[in-house]
Amino acid sequence: MQLAGGYLFMSASTAEPMNDDDVLEQRVDALLEQMTLAEKIGQMAQVNVGDSYIHDYLADGLRGGRVGSVLNVVDVEVVNELQRIAVEESRLGIPLIVGRDVIHGFKTIMPIPLGQAATWNPDVVREGAHVAALEASTAGVNWTFTPMIDISRDARWGRIAESLGEDPHLASILGVAMVEGFQGDELSAIGTIAACAKHFAGYGAAESGRDYATTNIPENELRNVYLRPFKAAVDAGVTTLMTSFSDLDGVPATGNEFLVNDILRGEWGFDGFVVSDWDSVRQLSIHGLTANDRESAFLAAKAGVDMEMHGDAYTNHLASLIEDGKVDEAVVDTAAANILRAKFRLGLFENPYTDPGLLPPIASKHALQTARQCALQSVVLLKNDHHVLPLNIDKLNSIAVLGPLADAPYEQLGTWIFDGDQNLSITPMHGIHSLVGDKVDVRYLRTMDNSRSRSTDAFDEAVAIASETDAVVLFLGEEAILSGEAHSRADISLPGAQAELVRRIRETGKPVVAVILAGRPLTLTNIVDDVDAILFAWHPGTMGGPAIADLLFGVESPSGKLPATFPKMVGQIPIYYNQKNTGKPPTPDTIAHIDEIDAHAPQLSLGMTAFHLDAGYLPLFPFGHGLSYAYFDYRNLTLSASEIGLGESLTVSVDITNTGRMAADEVVQLYVRDLVGNVTRPVKELKGFKRVHIEPGEKVTVDFELHTDDLAFYGRRMQLMTEPGEFHVWVGGSSDTDLRAEFRIVASD
Ligand code: NOJ
Repeated sequence: MQLAGGYLFMSASTAEPMNDDDVLEQRVDALLEQMTLAEKIGQMAQVNVGDSYIHDYLADGLRGGRVGSVLNVVDVEVVNELQRIAVEESRLGIPLIVGRDVIHGFKTIMPIPLGQAATWNPDVVREGAHVAALEASTAGVNWTFTPMIDISRDARWGRIAESLGEDPHLASILGVAMVEGFQGDELSAIGTIAACAKHFAGYGAAESGRDYATTNIPENELRNVYLRPFKAAVDAGVTTLMTSFSDLDGVPATGNEFLVNDILRGEWGFDGFVVSDWDSVRQLSIHGLTANDRESAFLAAKAGVDMEMHGDAYTNHLASLIEDGKVDEAVVDTAAANILRAKFRLGLFENPYTDPGLLPPIASKHALQTARQCALQSVVLLKNDHHVLPLNIDKLNSIAVLGPLADAPYEQLGTWIFDGDQNLSITPMHGIHSLVGDKVDVRYLRTMDNSRSRSTDAFDEAVAIASETDAVVLFLGEEAILSGEAHSRADISLPGAQAELVRRIRETGKPVVAVILAGRPLTLTNIVDDVDAILFAWHPGTMGGPAIADLLFGVESPSGKLPATFPKMVGQIPIYYNQKNTGKPPTPDTIAHIDEIDAHAPQLSLGMTAFHLDAGYLPLFPFGHGLSYAYFDYRNLTLSASEIGLGESLTVSVDITNTGRMAADEVVQLYVRDLVGNVTRPVKELKGFKRVHIEPGEKVTVDFELHTDDLAFYGRRMQLMTEPGEFHVWVGGSSDTDLRAEFRIVASD
């Protein structure tokens, strides 16, 4: 043991794991007592380093205890030096928490989070986060701004790529898996890093999917939908939360006391810390909530935002706000304590430095295998007419590989890959080549410079190649730049001349497979009938190529399921499976198409239900959809009881037989409807899912435990409750399953 900067410092070898809350609080209090007001406010400041260069201003700030955190520095020597200055040259020697957007991998990139959500597999998602934590740790990063668990029901929003989709249950389970993967069992262990659930809250409901736009979410929907994944992350021990850029019902999240102080801390008892988004404290005045930075600092601090990311409103104004009696010093004490608590939990006081030699190498075999497995399970087979897939390596002499995304190592990584290494990428082109060797002649033509290109100059050549080969695989979609932060689109069909390319290739009469790489659900209505099969691969990450090749040639069966509804056309948005019934629910018999309007009695020919005259009411592909090379026969849906009391459980069982010829995984999904509620309930709600492997001819029985607490929702007075009454339950391979049973909950005596 040694004393550093006036504070107790233990070497890693003598460090005791701190799992005793009392000891932890004593350490926080003891340190807080020694701190000046300026040092406490210093903990609340996060500084952008960016260029990995320690300028005098930063070094002085560290020495003076005016900086609690840095972000965007990934040179381990620079990070260690920053820590050394903080620990050895500041009065109290408080180490830094070092943040970075490690969103879906560090150097080895997993599929985009929306693709990970399509795996419906918490184990592979957890492992992906663990791999990312190990790699990021080598750079001295000890805090990631992940997971993003904003419910996203609008595919125009570019950040849907970073989300876990439209459903609160799926996003909760997978968000928790990410937290567990980053934070491990022991946050202070080498190779684990703090997670950050973001963006609190409602960011995904941006009007018309325009990033940063206003959100208006009634409190009941906020609690029943948008907050659920955050509550799950808090219960799982997430260390930090980040506020959203957006305005929620007139009060931007970063100044929203109801969200942060009342719900997060008051109701949920969160004892980690809350960081603003990038400069979002000062942006409160741009929103028009405050007149200047001083008022912004006042409101954000009062709301319970502990740390300001890249902004100086706290640094410049908190002290004088306290002197003037506007802000109680207790607010700053609480914020500093929350930040220190996280630093103690991370073990930073015991070991602030990074030795990359103690960690696995970047892009280890395990990292690449995890990325490949995650990519494999993320790809969704949307359609497969005439069993055109899998391609038969023994029967094909040649294939044409066409399109701008077949061999684009950077683009397949997707959005938010600050540190991702495109040199590690194996593209589909390379994956196909190494799988087929010289058994199949692969003829490749990029055909378009990029997905947005309107030039059709190379189409004749593409058609000629297609005509000379046995099958065509088109690699279409959108580049990484077309999704992510501030990259929203109003038209989410295939950009550029891609649809025209599909039509031209269709005319050759050859079997056509589209592999689509994209950061969001796309509207595929204008190409869906011109291709025989569609594999939707999202942005699949470093190992996307081999995974796609395995799926194309049937080494593995597709098993991904949609985590978000695919609309037929943009005008249907927002469209999601767990909508309300309305008083006039549509059915196939009560809708009419615009082309069918009777000219003589126009009013009579229209169904009076909730649908669009030109789009009907169904999506192109529903939530949970995803085909397989196997066939799964679902039967014998049975419930262990037809009636249970409040506080009890029942078991839902179903038999699934693989009647196909190939072994495959199936994601079995359980949905429930509460028929009558204190507030109206969705027509279906996902309540459970299991990924099971089934051999050809094998029958498995899958059981789900359903407790009445799983059916709880917030009612009219915002009370969480499960109500007695009738319920429907469905099990199947998609949200449009119709295999249904019923049960009833009765009030306990
Ligand atoms: C802004 C983004 O909204 C947020 O998600 C990210 O973590 C920060 N910038 C830091 O880069």
